[in-house]
Amino acid sequence: MIALISLVLLFVIIFYALIFGAPYAPLAQNRIDTMVRLLTLRKGQKLVDLGSGDGRIVIEFAKRGIESHGYEINPVLVALSLFKIRKAGLQKKAFIHFKDFWSVNLSEFDAITLYGITHIMGRLEKKIKKECKPDVKIVTNYFRFPDLKAIRQENRVTLYKI
Ligand SMILES: C[S@@+](CC[C@H](N)C(=O)[O-])C[C@H]1O[C@@H](n2cnc3c(N)ncnc32)[C@H](O)[C@@H]1O
Repeated sequence: MIALISLVLLFVIIFYALIFGAPYAPLAQNRIDTMVRLLTLRKGQKLVDLGSGDGRIVIEFAKRGIESHGYEINPVLVALSLFKIRKAGLQKKAFIHFKDFWSVNLSEFDAITLYGITHIMGRLEKKIKKECKPDVKIVTNYFRFPDLKAIRQENRVTLYKI
């Protein structure tokens, strides 16, 4: 019975992610390398990955000394990320939150990473413009914002400032 309830809950979460976010698809390492290069972050800055999947982006930036936060609604991926962070000994720099990213205030972050999907980009652009610091840097994989001005594009990764 518990297994059945857990399975149903997982399906509901995956369905929710399809409507209010993107389905799980891990970002290729070469795109993560491009994000790192385009963002040029310094130690002391704070990054957020919206929909952090298995935590690979959060882990990559944390390895470089950046305080990195991931928000993820799939509990299996949250558990996997936490396991990977612990294994890498990055608990002081990498943080995963089991939370819907639409309910997160983005004002404390210096950089945002996103592997989203077309139908959320307009709503997310409005949220970013409303909440973020004026000097925030944003990188998206593949999908682009409708109005935000792109600063650079490389390897299908786009860098934006607001
Ligand atoms: C395309 S994957 C990207 C994973 C990771 N950022 C990467 O690039 O490897 C999108 C992730 O966002 C999560 N997601 C979708 N909607 C979400 C929401 N509203 N809040 C938090 N996470 C969400 C999905 O569960 C999925 O793991």
